[in-house]
Parts: sequence; C-alpha cells; structure tokens
Amino acid sequence: MAEIVRLGTKAVAGAPRHVAIIMDGNGRWATMRGRPRLFGHHAGAKRVREIVEACPDLGVKYLTIFAFSTENWKRTQVEVAGLMSLFRRYITREARALFEEGVRVRFIGDRLRLDRKLQALMDELETLTGVNDRVHLTIALNYGGRDEVARATKRLAQDVAAGRLNPADVDEETLPRYLDTCVLPDPDLVIRTSGEARISNFLLWQSAYAEYEFIDTLWPDFTKEIFATLVARFGTRDRRYGGAKP
Ligand code: IPE
Ligand code: IPE
Ligand code: MG
Repeated sequence: MAEIVRLGTKAVAGAPRHVAIIMDGNGRWATMRGRPRLFGHHAGAKRVREIVEACPDLGVKYLTIFAFSTENWKRTQVEVAGLMSLFRRYITREARALFEEGVRVRFIGDRLRLDRKLQALMDELETLTGVNDRVHLTIALNYGGRDEVARATKRLAQDVAAGRLNPADVDEETLPRYLDTCVLPDPDLVIRTSGEARISNFLLWQSAYAEYEFIDTLWPDFTKEIFATLVARFGTRDRRYGGAKP
C-alpha cells in the first residue's frame, strides 16, 4: 500500500467534517436516455469512487451515502433484485481499491432483511477496511431514519427492562448511543441531487443541525468539481445552532 495512504485527511479550514449524500436521480438519468432504470443505477455506482477519493483533499473525513432506503422495497421486483445484485458486485469489485485508498467502510441500516450473501460481503468489507482511517465511508443500505430510531428505542427499552438503564437518566445523549451511527459525528452538510427538496427518511435524528444543499444535477452526472463547489459553499454558512450574535 502506498505511503500516502497513511497521511490522513488534511485539516481544511471551514470544511464539513461529515458530508452525507442522498444520491438521487439514477432512474430519471436512464429514462432520459431511453434506457432501463438499472442502467442509471450502474452509472450512479460508478460515480462513488471519484467522490470518495476527493474527500481527503477537501478536508472531508466522513462521507455517508444513501444507497437504498427502507421504502425502496416498494419498487418492482426487477429493480430491487437488480439493485441487490449491483450492491453485491460493487462490494466485490471495489473492496481492494477502497482498502488501498485507506477508506474505512461501514454500513448502516437494517441488514437482517438483506440476503445472506450480501450481508456476508458487507461484514467482510467492514472487517477488511477496519484498520483504515483516511476516509470513513458509511453506506446506508436498507436504511430508514424512522426504522433506525425504532430499532434503537427497542434496544434502549430492553436495557431499561433488564435494569441496565434508569429511565431518569435518559437524555439527548442516550438515544444516539443506540443508533446505527453511534460511532460517527453528526453530518455537517447533507447534499441531495436530482432537484427533490426532501430528505426521504435519511439521518433524521443526526441531521438536526446539518446544512442542506439541494441541487438539480442527477446523481450519475455528479462530479468531484460539483462536490468541491458545495463543500466550499459550506464554508460560507453561518451556523448558529439556535444562538444569536451579540
Ligand atoms: C436513487 O435514484 C437511487 C435509489 C433510490 C436506489 P432513483 O432510483 O430514486 O432515481 P429517480 O429518483 O427515480 O430518478
Ligand atoms: C431516497 O431517494 C433514497 C435513496 C437515494 C437511496 P428516493 O428516490 O427513494 O426518495 P423519494 O421516493 O423520491 O422520496
Ligand atoms: Mg429517486
């Protein structure tokens, strides 16, 4: 592995430490070209590597990407099966490059509903890249913010029932410890491509004070230049967290 991999992410003043992306618009991108929706998903998956590799120079340490939502099962069986096969292939093909680039990969979402083979590949990739620290890539797969909060609450309630947690001690710091994102900082910037101005159940709890960028570009057309522009614009935002300037 090249030495450079170990150098880590640059500290770039004003950069968002954690960027989360709702990668939307693959279907429309394909339809515009008279091709099946899966063609768009393949084109979209190919964009990911460039964006991950752009992170260190931009000062982005954490990148979280929305790949499949808990609501996306509503799509046709052909599209869902095609996406699942794409995820399996993506992990198999990209594992080595991700490892060599110093990327640590994690998955969030309810993985128990995914097929066994895909779950095994996800576990392997997390283990393989577990030593890396250059960029932290989190892939949201069968992820829904409400589902995540419900699963977290269930485990919290189990701890209360077992006497491990006192209800009087539950505060804003408690629930995040049960979320899939427990080891990640909250996102600073959430980007959604394709012109839709909604968050579609993504990182509901974690994005309470995130800055948002809704851009018209369809995900398969998203480039590192666009990414760099949005990251730079983030540096001009005035984050007040409810406070006021004296
Ligand atoms: C995002 O693209 C990828 C997934 C949701 C899996 P879409 O498939 O939602 O594309 P559009 O929104 O239909 O164009
Ligand atoms: C959100 O996009 C989920 C992903 C990008 C994986 P959708 O295309 O599923 O969201 P809606 O249906 O437009 O809200
Ligand atoms: Mg969509």
